[in-house]
Amino acid sequence: MSPDAGCQRTARRRFAERVGRVDAVSVTGWELHARAMARRLAGEDVIVLSIGDHEFDAPDVVVNQTIAALRAGRHHYTPAAGTTPLRRAIAADHNRRTGMAIDTDGVAVLPGAQCGLYAAAQCLIDPGDEVLVAEPMYVTYAGTLQTAGAVVVPVPLSGADGFALDPARLAAHITLRTRAVLLNSPHNPTGTVARREALEGLASLCCENDLWLMSDEVYAGMTYEQPHVSPCSLPGMADRTVTIDSLSKRSAMTGWRIGWIVGPPDLVAHLEVLAGCMLFGVSPFIQDAAVAALQAADEIGEAVRARYRRRRDLVCDALEALPGLKVVRPEGGMFVMLGVADFGFSATAFATRLLDEAGVSVLPGDSFGASGAGYVRLALSAGEEELAEACRRIGRFTGRLSGAAP
Ligand SMILES: Cc1ncc(COP(=O)(O)O)c(C=O)c1O
Repeated sequence: MSPDAGCQRTARRRFAERVGRVDAVSVTGWELHARAMARRLAGEDVIVLSIGDHEFDAPDVVVNQTIAALRAGRHHYTPAAGTTPLRRAIAADHNRRTGMAIDTDGVAVLPGAQCGLYAAAQCLIDPGDEVLVAEPMYVTYAGTLQTAGAVVVPVPLSGADGFALDPARLAAHITLRTRAVLLNSPHNPTGTVARREALEGLASLCCENDLWLMSDEVYAGMTYEQPHVSPCSLPGMADRTVTIDSLSKRSAMTGWRIGWIVGPPDLVAHLEVLAGCMLFGVSPFIQDAAVAALQAADEIGEAVRARYRRRRDLVCDALEALPGLKVVRPEGGMFVMLGVADFGFSATAFATRLLDEAGVSVLPGDSFGASGAGYVRLALSAGEEELAEACRRIGRFTGRLSGAAP
C-alpha cells in the first residue's frame, strides 16, 4: 500500500456533520451533577437534587411481572410497533385519560419518551424546518430536533409571570418554515401546567398554520392543582398531535426504558418502519411489565403523585420563608425553580458554591436556555427527611450569602 492511499483513507475517516448538531446538551449543568455523584460515591455527604429520577424503586407488581415474564420464556423478538397487549393497554389508558377513542393502530411502543421524541422528529422534520419550543426547555430537546435537521426556535418564557405558556409569543415566531411546535406540560424545568385556554390558543395556531404539535406528556400524571389537558383532545388536533409519554415518571420505571407515541395511524405506520430499522422491537419482558403497570395505573400513579405533592409542599414552604430566594411553586412534575439573582451572582456560580459549601447539588437554570438564567432547578428526587435537610442547608448557605446567618 502506498503512503498516499493511507492518507486518502485518513481523509475519509471523519464523522457525519450530524454529530455536531447533537452537541447542544448543556455541559456545565451536567458537569455539576457528575461532580456531585462522584463525591457521593466517594462517601461525601452530598444531597443530589440535580436529576429527575426517583430515589425509590419501581412498584412490586412491575418487578414481579418482569421476573415472571423472564421465567415464562419471554426472551424473543417482538413486533416493531410493540406487542398487541401493550398497544391495547396504552390505547385504553390514553382513551380513559383524554376521552379519545383511538385503537392499537394509533400506538407505537418505544423504549422511553426520549426515544419517542427522537423517532417523532425523524418522521416529521425535514432539514431546515423550524420547530418552536418554549424556553427554558428540557436539555435534550435541541440535540434531538437538530439531529433531524430542525432549526430550533426558542420562545422565551418569563419567570416574572411564572413561566406561563403564552400562545401569542409562539405566534410571533411562526414563519413559512415552521413545521412543528414541541410542547411539554407539565413542564420540565419550570413545573408549569398549561391552561386549557392557552392550549386552545396553541391548537388554533397549529390548525391555522398547518403545524404538527409534538406533545411531551411524561409528567401528565403528576399535576397537583391544575388538571392536565391533552391537546390531542382539542378540536382539529387529533390528526396533528403526536403524544409522547412513558412510564418513567408516573410509574417510577425510569430504568425500564418503556414509552410510546400516540398519533395518527399514518404516522404510526412510519414509526413502525423506523423502529424496525432502529430497534427491531422492545424487550418482551419489559412490555409485559408495562402492561402490568398500566393495569394498576390509578393506584401506582396516585401513590407517586401524592408523594411528590408532599415533597413539593415541604420544600416550597421551607424555602419560601428564606429571604432572597424566589420560589416558583410547581403546579406539576418533579422540579422546583428557585430564583437566585438577588444574591448577585450567576446561577452556575450559585449552584457551584451550593455544592462546594453546603453539599447540595442543583442545576443552573441556564442549562435549559437563556431564559432560565438567574434560576436553579431543584429536583424533588429525595425522601422527605433528606429534602428537609437540603432546605436547612440551603437556608444556612443563603443566610451566609446575605450576611444574615453564621
Ligand atoms: C420533559 C422530559 N421529556 C422526556 C424525558 C425522557 O423520559 P424517558 O425516561 O421516558 O425517556 C424526560 C426525562 O427526564 C423529561 O424530563
